[in-house]
Amino acid sequence: MRKLNNLLVTGGMGFIGSNFIRVLLTMPSFVGRIINLDALTYAGNPASLSDIDKAFGNKRYFFERGSICDRAFIEEIFYKYAIDTVVHFAAESHVDRSILGPEAFIKTNVMGTFTLLDVARNAWRDTDGVLFHHISTDEVYGSLGKTGYFYENTPYDPRSPYSASKASSDHLVMAYHHTYGLPITLSNCSNNYGQYQFPEKFLPLMILNMIEGKPLPVYGDGKNIRDWLFVLDHVSAIWRILTQGRSGEKYNVGGENEWENIRLLNTLIGIVAKKAGLKRQAIEATITYVKDRPGHDRRYAIDCSKIKRELGWQQSVGFEEGLDQTVDWYLSRPDWIAQIRSGEYQNWITHNYTDR
Ligand code: NAD
Ligand code: DAU
Repeated sequence: MRKLNNLLVTGGMGFIGSNFIRVLLTMPSFVGRIINLDALTYAGNPASLSDIDKAFGNKRYFFERGSICDRAFIEEIFYKYAIDTVVHFAAESHVDRSILGPEAFIKTNVMGTFTLLDVARNAWRDTDGVLFHHISTDEVYGSLGKTGYFYENTPYDPRSPYSASKASSDHLVMAYHHTYGLPITLSNCSNNYGQYQFPEKFLPLMILNMIEGKPLPVYGDGKNIRDWLFVLDHVSAIWRILTQGRSGEKYNVGGENEWENIRLLNTLIGIVAKKAGLKRQAIEATITYVKDRPGHDRRYAIDCSKIKRELGWQQSVGFEEGLDQTVDWYLSRPDWIAQIRSGEYQNWITHNYTDR
């Protein structure tokens, strides 16, 4: 098992990064330090880790605010904390935003990843035991028809500015391994859901709109398919890769859990209605079919047999249980919801989504 001492986590104030940091710092088998580097864009919320900051702040947990595009800052962090492992989550992550404004995606996802890789290459020259793990998405593989799966060797075919920027970052990661020998691993994961997800993404957006009696915007015919994975199962997959993964390898991670959007929405309505004491029919009446997302990928489905076979990873949270926990969490955290909505997010929905 690889030992991790000084872990640089980028984007640790976001959805998956904050869940990852909480799990690691409360896990007996991890005894290292975590340095969370985050620019605190609209998607980064320090409240997501206030419990962790209280328990571990300036002992085993350190927060550094800054951008992955800022080379001098990244270099300083590498030397200040003697970083031996990078877990790179930081990204612009929302497909709709990439359609409205691709530039930030190219800057952060492409240039930011390049900057991190290049600093790591220089800082780690002739150093053993180091690893750069890059978190990526199944969207780099494009869109599937009714059948078939994405495998690790499926050719890349990104179709949105978001997925093109992630594909580009994946290629850079592989190029740094092949050209400079940088020890890397890469994971391509399907749709995550769970606590601390920003309410622009399908599941939290729908949960909050239901509670607030707002329309439920379904893109196109509602029959696009996504493969859903509970966020803590993604975290356990990343842990397996960090500790047991082979350098230079990529691993697909997925839920093996495909749902048409409209079918998922109807299931969610049942859960929210029951938990929030609302009438199912009243919520159903708010389903609103809206203009489709341009270039909307039809279906994603991950084959994750490699990580299961080679690293012994397994999903552990069933969808019913995961959805239940997620709805409970959003119902119990109005404080977090108010906080995350108080920033730029408000301006963004006002400017771009008033017609929906
Ligand atoms: P998120 O949008 O919730 O969080 C992104 C975080 O990155 C935020 O805290 C933000 O402040 C930070 N950030 C953005 N630009 C930055 C910059 N220039 N410098 C430093 N920090 C910056 O994203 P997420 O959903 O947690 O996704 C994390 C990673 O996982 C991304 O790389 C994404 O592509 C990938 N991924 C996400 C999913 C999913 O379903 N959410 C699935 C597969 C892969
Ligand atoms: O597949 C992994 C990807 O999953 C990650 O790489 C991305 O970071 C993450 O955002 C997610 O991308 P999607 O585009 O699949 O997720 P989103 O939650 O935006 O949408 C899920 C599906 O629901 C998609 O088919 C679009 C649809 N949708 C979405 C929203 C926000 C709607 O019908 N209505 C909506 O309001």
